[in-house]
Amino acid sequence: MTDPIIERLEADHEASIQRLVDYVSLPSVSAQPTRYAEGIEASANWIADRCRELGMSVTRHETDGSPIIVAETPVPEDNPNAPRFMVYGHYDVQPPEPFDLWKTEPFKPTREGNSLIGRGASDNKGQHLAHVEAVGAYLNAGIPLPCQVVFVIEGEEEVGSEALGTFLEEQAEALRCDAVIISDNGIPSLDYPTLTYGLRGVAAMEVRLDGPNRDLHSGIFGGSIENPAMALCQLLGSLRDADGTILVEGFYDDVLPLTEFERSQMARWPETDEGLQSALGAPALFGEPGFTSTERRGARPTLEINGLTSGYQGEGSKTIVPAWASAKITTRLVPNQDPEVILDRLEAAIRRRCPDSVRLTIERGHAGEPYLTSPEAPLSMAAIEALRNAFGKEPIAAREGGSIPIVNAFKKTLGADTLLLGLGLPDDNIH
Ligand code: BES
Ligand code: MN
Repeated sequence: MTDPIIERLEADHEASIQRLVDYVSLPSVSAQPTRYAEGIEASANWIADRCRELGMSVTRHETDGSPIIVAETPVPEDNPNAPRFMVYGHYDVQPPEPFDLWKTEPFKPTREGNSLIGRGASDNKGQHLAHVEAVGAYLNAGIPLPCQVVFVIEGEEEVGSEALGTFLEEQAEALRCDAVIISDNGIPSLDYPTLTYGLRGVAAMEVRLDGPNRDLHSGIFGGSIENPAMALCQLLGSLRDADGTILVEGFYDDVLPLTEFERSQMARWPETDEGLQSALGAPALFGEPGFTSTERRGARPTLEINGLTSGYQGEGSKTIVPAWASAKITTRLVPNQDPEVILDRLEAAIRRRCPDSVRLTIERGHAGEPYLTSPEAPLSMAAIEALRNAFGKEPIAAREGGSIPIVNAFKKTLGADTLLLGLGLPDDNIH
């Protein structure tokens, strides 16, 4: 006997894809809110309208930034005490730059075989729309849901979810739920259904060194004055060993060691070092000794330079001592590292190492906590069983390296655990 919900979803498949095309066409880049104001507004309205159309009760909440959309299915009439699950997603997307690397236009979603190519098709419009479509199938069919579902769809995940954090605190009572479901993460392949029970946190910082009051002729002045670009490279270089070990004092103090169970689950992630290396096109893999690539990616903290700016970047050469140099850096964190504490230690390490020959400015950016729940808790076991039934394969319990800054706040503010049921694939090329 085919499930009437599955039947409906299959019959409606083409229309669902068309809806995703419409949604992905709306450019909602949260890092550039002025330039993309219209697309952000349109995306918020699009998902609100869609949920309303399906019979959910929808509210829109203004913030200092992008609006938050909350959409609820009716309380099941025959079972007012049915569990209530929150589905969280984000309609904002990462900047599409560099444009010249796109073979199709980022906001003109294009179908290629089974793929839809466009910014946000994965991460995260596609994923939360899939949940809306599934719930919509029940509502359209008039078949009662076995639970109540409340969608919380925000527009600032890619810039740290600050407004949502405040919103959760204000609305803690109204948003009370038994668990949160998120699909803003990945699975290794369709053959390996995965319950993700841990994510890394992230904290951002910009470091700027100022030297002379203007760019100088490097022949006339070079050697008699500090070169801020060289000083910045040496400073940042001294924060990490050649093998990838971070040298910031106290950086690893609060890191929880991996358990044997975790390491055995990580070993099941079906990815070989050769496969990873060839997929990434790098001449070699790299990382802390004593850990596998899966462990390094999912459960070890890092310090990364995300952007480095100084001096002349045009064609040919220009012989100058640049007046300044700056770097955007982030650190990925694991339980129990606290973002603010790590930013303090990082800042102290930078100040300690900075020479007197330059003026140092440090600006802190977003900070999101790492997340960890038990893969053996009843809720996790229920999710693993559901995955086993749906995929007919033995699921993996995984920790993933990406960050969803709000997840720990669901636990702290609402007391709700999060089940991360990824719907992304490794070749989605998100970001
Ligand atoms: N969907 C990702 C997070 C993710 C990706 C989790 C893959 C697990 C596996 C999310 O949208 C994201 O990119 N978050 C940012 C947060 C940051 C900008 C504050 C991240 O991880 O860089
Ligand atoms: Mn993302």
